[in-house]
Amino acid sequence: MIPQTKNWLRANGDRPVAAKPFSSLSSYKAIKHHQTLAKTLGIPNPFYRSTEGMADKLTLIDGKPVLNFAWCDYLGLSQHPEMIAAANEATSRFGTTLSASRMVSGDTPMHRELEAEIARTIGVEAALVFVSGHAANVSTIGTLMNSDDLIVHDEFVHNSAVVGMRLSGAETRSFKHNRLDALENILRTERAKYRNVMVVIEGLYSTEGDLPDLARIVELKERYGAWLMVDDAHGCGVLGATGRGLAEHCGVDGAKVDIWMGTLSKAYASCGGYIAGNTELIDLLRYAAPGFVFSVGLPPAMTASALTALRIVQREPERVQRLHNNSKMFLEGAHARGLDTGRAAGIAMLPIMVGLTGRAAKTVARVLERGVNASFIMYPGVPMNAARLRFFLSSELTEAEINLALDVTKEELGR
Ligand SMILES: Cc1ncc(COP(=O)(O)O)c(C=O)c1O
Repeated sequence: MIPQTKNWLRANGDRPVAAKPFSSLSSYKAIKHHQTLAKTLGIPNPFYRSTEGMADKLTLIDGKPVLNFAWCDYLGLSQHPEMIAAANEATSRFGTTLSASRMVSGDTPMHRELEAEIARTIGVEAALVFVSGHAANVSTIGTLMNSDDLIVHDEFVHNSAVVGMRLSGAETRSFKHNRLDALENILRTERAKYRNVMVVIEGLYSTEGDLPDLARIVELKERYGAWLMVDDAHGCGVLGATGRGLAEHCGVDGAKVDIWMGTLSKAYASCGGYIAGNTELIDLLRYAAPGFVFSVGLPPAMTASALTALRIVQREPERVQRLHNNSKMFLEGAHARGLDTGRAAGIAMLPIMVGLTGRAAKTVARVLERGVNASFIMYPGVPMNAARLRFFLSSELTEAEINLALDVTKEELGR
C-alpha cells in the first residue's frame, strides 16, 4: 500500500493528493442504494428505530408502547429488582468503570466470582469474561488459530466467528447448515494437511432457531482430532431443563467441548461475553487474547448483574420452563395459523418465513403499527429471498400476548 501511494504521488509530480471521500467506498454506495430503493417502494426503514423506554414486556417506540419480540431478554431479567439492585450496588462500590484492563488494575473479586459461576454452570474448569461476545469470538479464534491451521464451520455461524477466522489467517471451509455428513467429509479429507483443526458451530442458530446434534459432532471431533468451539450465545440460560445450554439439552458432558463461548447480553440480561473451557485454554487467553488483554474490564454494574442473573436462573429454573412452554405455544400457534417457521425447533427464537425482502420489510412495519415489535432479517444475514420476521420469546409473555402477535402477523402477511 505505501510504495503504491508513493509511486502515485511521483506520477502526479509530488503534488498533494486529497483522500477520497468515504462515499466513494462500495459499501457506502450499497447502503445508499438499498435506502433509495426502500424509499421508492414506500418501505419504512426497519433498522435503528429509536427505543425511548422499556417497561416490563413493553418498549416505547416513537412514543407508542409496543409488545417487544425484538430483544433477547429470554428470561425477563432485564428489569428484575435484584438485577437493578446488584448493578446499583456495584456502581456505588466500584464506580461506573474500571478504567483499565483486568491485567493492569481492573480485576475485581466480582469478576473472579462471575467466571467461577460460569465455569460451574457449564461443567468446565474455568472461564474468562470479555467486554462483548463479539470480542470474545474474534479474539479467541484469532489467538488460537493461524495460517498452519484449518477452521471448519457451519455456514450460518455468527459474524463475530467469521471475523475471528479472517483475523487468524487460517484456512476456512464451511459446511451446509447442520449437514454433519458434509462436516465429516471435510474432516476426513483435510485433517492430515493441517497442524490444528477447529470446528465452529452454534448452540441455537439465531436466524433459524434450530440446533446442532452435539453428541455426533463431539464424536466427529474426537475421531479426527479437532477442537470444537460452540457459540452458545442464544443457548446459554435457555437450552436444557435448567438453562445450562446446548450440552444440557443434548445430554452431553460440557467438558467434551473444548471451547464454549456465550454472551451475558441475552438471557443473562447484562453485557459482555465469555469463553469457558479447561484451565490451559483460559490461562492462554488471559495473557494472549488481544480483546481481553488490551481492552477494559467488564464494568462493575454489568459484572454484578450477570452474576446475579446466573444465580437467579439456578434458583428459579421455572423461568426456563416457562420460556420453553411459551415457545411451544408460539410454534404450535404459528402452525395452526398456517405460518411457516422454517426449521425452527421451537425454543426461544422463531422466524416467520416471508421470502421477498420488500414484503418482509412491509410486514414488519405493519405489525409494528399494530403494537407488535418483531425484528426484520434479510440478506446477507440469511440467503437471498429468504427474508423473515424474527420473534424472540420471553418466559414472561402470556398466552394472550402470543396469540395477539400471531394473529397480527397472519393478518398483515395476508394483505
Ligand atoms: C450467535 C452470536 N454470537 C455472538 C454474538 C455477539 O454477542 P454480543 O452481543 O454479546 O457481542 C451474538 C450477538 O448477537 C450472536 O447472536
